[in-house]
Amino acid sequence: MAKRVAVIGAGCSGLVCIKCCLDEGLEPVCFESSDNIGGLWRFKETQEKERTSIYRSLIVNTSKEMMCFSDFPMPDHFPNYMHNSLVVQYFTLYTEHFDLLRYIHFQTTVRSVRQRPDFSASGQWDIVTTGRDGREKKHVFDGVLVCTGQYTQPITPAFPGVDSFQGMIAHSYDYKDPDLYRGKRLVIVGIGNSGGDIAVELSRVCEKTFLSTRTGAWITGRMLNRGLPMDMMLVRRNLDLIFSLLPRAVINWIGARMLNQKHDHKLYGLQPKYGVFDQRPIINDDLPGRILVGELVMKPNLQKFQGSTLMFNDGTAEENIDAVIFCTGFNSTFPFLPSSLNSGPDGELTLYRRIFPPSLERPTLGIMGLFQTKGAIMPAVELQARWATRVIKGLNRLPSAVKMHKVIEKERRANLKCYPCPKQAALQVPYIPYLDTIAKEVGVCPNIFWLLLTDPALGLRVLFGPCTPYQFRLSGPGHWRGARQAILTQWDRVAKPMKTRPIPETKSISLLYWLGLAGGAAVICIIMVKQKKIPHFLDTLIFHRQPLY
Ligand SMILES: Cc1cc2nc3c(=O)[nH]c(=O)nc-3n(C[C@H](O)[C@H](O)[C@H](O)COP(=O)(O)OP(=O)(O)OC[C@H]3O[C@@H](n4cnc5c(N)ncnc54)[C@H](O)[C@@H]3O)c2cc1C
Ligand SMILES: *[C@@H]1O[C@H](CO)[C@@H](O)[C@H](O)[C@H]1NC(C)=O
Ligand SMILES: *[C@@H]1O[C@H](CO)[C@@H](O)[C@H](O)[C@H]1NC(C)=O
Repeated sequence: MAKRVAVIGAGCSGLVCIKCCLDEGLEPVCFESSDNIGGLWRFKETQEKERTSIYRSLIVNTSKEMMCFSDFPMPDHFPNYMHNSLVVQYFTLYTEHFDLLRYIHFQTTVRSVRQRPDFSASGQWDIVTTGRDGREKKHVFDGVLVCTGQYTQPITPAFPGVDSFQGMIAHSYDYKDPDLYRGKRLVIVGIGNSGGDIAVELSRVCEKTFLSTRTGAWITGRMLNRGLPMDMMLVRRNLDLIFSLLPRAVINWIGARMLNQKHDHKLYGLQPKYGVFDQRPIINDDLPGRILVGELVMKPNLQKFQGSTLMFNDGTAEENIDAVIFCTGFNSTFPFLPSSLNSGPDGELTLYRRIFPPSLERPTLGIMGLFQTKGAIMPAVELQARWATRVIKGLNRLPSAVKMHKVIEKERRANLKCYPCPKQAALQVPYIPYLDTIAKEVGVCPNIFWLLLTDPALGLRVLFGPCTPYQFRLSGPGHWRGARQAILTQWDRVAKPMKTRPIPETKSISLLYWLGLAGGAAVICIIMVKQKKIPHFLDTLIFHRQPLY
């Protein structure tokens, strides 16, 4: 009989877990507390408690070729960076294509997940859910994949005097539209991706917008040279290789030079203490422009409130503030899991390769998507799911608990160098190395050397081109016949949505033409020199060097 696996949540992580269960011949049962798929990406007009939430204008910060699932490229006409509604459309297409809807129980919330008494032998779990009628139901499962997301508990730091503030206070979590803020004087606290987005949007309607940040941030756009998607240009195996060979200080210096060429981070009041490649930069195309026109004003760390006056660390104060939005991040919580799994120093989950709690006697539970990285989340979660389903099925084994703890500690130490906050440090994974580590476990890591020998057109693209998810479907378990073609055509799909105005091809002048021209000129020169007739213009150009303008 097929093993039954509970998938908790039907956001993008849950959907890909259902699909991977089916690929491995497991029987998935998905519980989703809301009434639809898509999780975070499904915009809701009003904020619901304990649900992830996004603002109306949210646009992804990862490009479509980098964030799709590995065997299902995005429709070619979708824009490279899309609005949240199109992301949901993509997940809907994925769900329909692989016929996943029938495995999902909507409006069903998982209340508790506990090891069964015979867990050490069976690896089974007791799960309690409540359905739409509010009644509890008990289930037994052979495996559990937790896909409930990590952005449900907003963190609002307590600043002195905040009670004396009469204006509006919100968290980025509550923010939906600019309407409420029209004509106000606003302070935004925190410069994450959300803080940056909201600051730009509100600076267009507010009387004045202040952005307070303790650390500062490096800012990069979605576009790189020639307007090409930033992640497709930078998330590449050859660049990773070069970066791993150079000292960190050198690549940080190069990175800072590149970013400061667009806008000097010091001049703009943005400069952080950390290096460009030490932490994730903020992806925002408009923020420096808003500072340049003076509608957005950078401020240091917020110190305290005094009525409607806000005081900052440098001794300055801003008066008559009407509203404050905290973009100060989230706390991920898993209230339904056994508290024994929260064994980290700050009561957080300790996870081997950011998936498996090493303390379990049987590896039949995986946490999906609880990590942060410099690339798209979806392809990484997909590989997590491909590995976890194989582990649950018994095809792959994990090392001993001692060994797993050693790996966890080593990775945490390495991250602490860049992320001083231990909780943040535990979450970070380096993008391509993380994908490859898991892909090796599954047996789907592309063998570049072999590809270069047998299929150079493909091998060169895998090594020097963007590290698109299709690379993990070229061979091994779950390989997809369309993967090679998807890699060869990835730049066509980048260009497609922008081909909306026909531009006649300009005839490119060929190399042969230039060679002919140069040859002709040489012959004329030789004839003239032989006849001692150096043309006058050459004479002035070479010997008198008169200005040409
Ligand atoms: C503002 C913002 C922008 C982002 N932009 C990007 C981006 O551009 N690119 C990128 O790669 N990543 C981005 N991310 C990261 C994003 O979190 C992931 O890309 C991805 O959406 C996470 O999906 P998920 O399925 O793991 O979680 P979610 O999308 O949060 O889905 C979790 C699901 O679980 C359900 N659920 C929760 N608890 C229970 C329960 N107890 N029982 C049953 N169901 C439950 C919820 O209802 C929800 O449907 C962004 C995140 C945020 C906050
Ligand atoms: C985050 O959640 C954990 C567990 O619920 C709690 O102990 C901790 O205090 C929370 N942290 C913040 C900053 O809210
Ligand atoms: C995109 O934005 C989200 C939300 O702020 C963030 O968690 C994620 O790391 C960003 N992605 C990249 C590649 O920076």
